[in-house]
Amino acid sequence: MTQLTPILSKFWDDPQSWTLATYERHDGYRAQAKAFAMEPAAVLSAVKDSALRGRGGAGFPTGMKWSFMSPPDGGARYLVVNADESEPGTCKDIPLMMANPHVLIEGVAISSYAIGCEHAFIYLRGEVTHVYRRLLRAVEEAYAAGHLGKNIHGTGITVDITVHAGAGAYICGEETALLDSLEGRRGQPRSKPPFPGAAGLYARPTSVNNVESIASVPGIILEGVDWFKSMGTEKSTGFGIFSLSGHVTRPGQYEAPLGITLRELLDMAGGMRDGKALKFWTPGGSSTPIFTAEHLDVPLDFESVGAAGSMLGTRALQIFDDTVCVVRAVDRWTDFYKHESCGKCTPCREGTWWLKQILGRLEHGHGSEADLDKLLDICDNILGRSFCALGDGATSCITSSIQYFREEYLAHLEHGGCPFDPQDSTLFSKESVSA
Ligand SMILES: Cc1cc2nc3c(=O)[nH]c(=O)nc-3n(C[C@H](O)[C@H](O)[C@H](O)COP(=O)(O)O)c2cc1C
Ligand code: SF4
Repeated sequence: MTQLTPILSKFWDDPQSWTLATYERHDGYRAQAKAFAMEPAAVLSAVKDSALRGRGGAGFPTGMKWSFMSPPDGGARYLVVNADESEPGTCKDIPLMMANPHVLIEGVAISSYAIGCEHAFIYLRGEVTHVYRRLLRAVEEAYAAGHLGKNIHGTGITVDITVHAGAGAYICGEETALLDSLEGRRGQPRSKPPFPGAAGLYARPTSVNNVESIASVPGIILEGVDWFKSMGTEKSTGFGIFSLSGHVTRPGQYEAPLGITLRELLDMAGGMRDGKALKFWTPGGSSTPIFTAEHLDVPLDFESVGAAGSMLGTRALQIFDDTVCVVRAVDRWTDFYKHESCGKCTPCREGTWWLKQILGRLEHGHGSEADLDKLLDICDNILGRSFCALGDGATSCITSSIQYFREEYLAHLEHGGCPFDPQDSTLFSKESVSA
């Protein structure tokens, strides 16, 4: 049985867990002192050797991303922390910043030092004003204690942090749209190349990293690479926050080694709510293909989830029991993607609109079986043909739900509307619909 590994979440239950005093009681800023006594290249190597993979969704190795930045030329270099967290189901960075903002700030200081950045930015989702205030206060505390600013603790090292609140658009989590937004423009993805590592913020070398990725850095420096690699799997090292939401007895954040299974997590979370049966779930947020009960034992690491036909994404495990109509759920997700499509490219702008029209009529029992092929055809025209990954993500729930629940779509047509009675999940068997 895999055990939980509370590291980032270790003292979230302490009274006033977010204060500097609490953080320092738990070894806070000791990693910074250790890192600043090392050469920047050695800090970068440690992160590279740990094989830490980005926790923002794509799983790109963090140390490798840093090493791909253009070499120093005497000009500014930037670290930008992606704290936009707007995907349906994803809810780990916001609790992390609320409960323990200093682990992120210490991570920013160390990571900035490693890549030669003297001014870092944290780009926060705009709606979460409570987190914005908490971060501002924590940054203020860190400056007052000398952990940030010019000549930190007499080392000659400078790291300044600006916390920036966005205006609340999902697309601003896409790293290049984020950079445009941070520069004061409308947030839309940029053409790549050039990649941010060559020309990012203000056209300078920039690394954009997720909150949890950067917050994992102090532990790697303080406890060592072997400690980090002792958790997780060979290619998906370390730990991660798994966010269980939906029809589960005790929803919340479960910090565990990568490679844990949903079955194990559900056991820890008290099982399905009201003893109901698991119907479908997302392994990594709404942009990842859904799984069903047959995937309960898939190890939740990048490789295994990929091999089983989905993506680990942000480990946002949205759990749906057998009272939920899958067509309705997919229609709601699609509404989100249609709304959040930034409009820059045709496949996504037009495609998400059409997907929503077709799903809307299917949910209400209108349309025909040919609509399912039309949905798949539109998805095929979006996937891999859109300008950024938002378009790809919009197709995941549709293609996977048709793969696993085609009968349920057809039942809507046969029944002339949703045949699903949430009080009686057995109603939705194929027999009962055609009877
Ligand atoms: C539409 C869209 C939204 C995204 N939202 C986020 C987000 O809120 N937070 C995040 O870290 N990455 C988000 N990403 C992924 C980022 O583009 C980028 O890969 C990530 O910030 C890199 O950090 P990492 O290497 O530490 O994972 C999003 C991507 C897309 C396409
Ligand atoms: S895929 Fe969608 S969100 Fe991304 S650039 Fe195209 S229209 Fe904008």
